[in-house]
Amino acid sequence: MSHPTPRANDLFEQTLLSTWLDEADVGICVLDDTARVVMLNAAGARMMNIEALNVLNMPVTRLTEKIDADVTLAQWLGSPGQDGERTVRRAGAEGAVHLLLKTRGVKNPAGERFKVIAINNITATLQAQQALDFMKRQWEALNAGVVISDARAPDMPIIYVNPMFERMSGYSAAEIMGRNCRFLQGTDRHQPALDTIRQAIHDETNGHAILRNYRKDGSMFLNELFVSPVRDAAGVVTHFVGVQHPRGSAAALDRAP
Ligand SMILES: Cc1cc2nc3c(=O)[nH]c(=O)nc-3n(C[C@H](O)[C@H](O)[C@H](O)COP(=O)(O)O)c2cc1C
Repeated sequence: MSHPTPRANDLFEQTLLSTWLDEADVGICVLDDTARVVMLNAAGARMMNIEALNVLNMPVTRLTEKIDADVTLAQWLGSPGQDGERTVRRAGAEGAVHLLLKTRGVKNPAGERFKVIAINNITATLQAQQALDFMKRQWEALNAGVVISDARAPDMPIIYVNPMFERMSGYSAAEIMGRNCRFLQGTDRHQPALDTIRQAIHDETNGHAILRNYRKDGSMFLNELFVSPVRDAAGVVTHFVGVQHPRGSAAALDRAP
């Protein structure tokens, strides 16, 4: 069997590399030391909403022309030797597209300088983060306790509590993260109402009960608890959310820290 020559190997590696670059989900653009575009892969062209062929050998300003008016961006990309990152935005057919650009200066064996720009579309991540932040703000504003437990982890540990839950129970979030909510019952474990909650968790349905619970200072309060399963897109229960309303005597409520 004949072995490929080193030259053939080089060509093969180049083909592999360019195939990979065109299949990659991350946009890659390379600028030379005069800030001209020497390479832009398919993902990069898609993310910048331009034709790769139209920008090849063109100044970097052609690359950034669809990005929302940011005159300093092309300067930043074109300036030599700057590693860093920036988030930019361009208008898309279905709303703003957010891109994270990371730059890295490199030299080839001949000592020529290039700048590699990695482009990531972070629109979905950003939107998910914003939706989550909004949801958290709603839970924080709520005049009821909110607890989220991880249904996939052993014994359903708490992964989130809102500030109202901290006030109701007297425990800080840090003190109760990772524990099961039953600690609020203290030694008062023989409560028939608990069966309703156990059954709801077992059946993965909504449950409702009024329980005797104990604050950190040992004082009792009546806790009207609603638990509900949270399902992922495939319908699998991944979490349970619990909403708690302190009930009972005004004195019990007044003692809430
Ligand atoms: C999301 C969620 C929130 C809960 N919140 C409380 C609570 O505030 N107080 C309480 O006594 N039990 C609460 N529970 C119930 C206990 O965690 C536990 O399911 C109950 O004690 C029955 O299970 P056990 O017999 O293993 O203790 C909650 C459960 C879940 C899933």
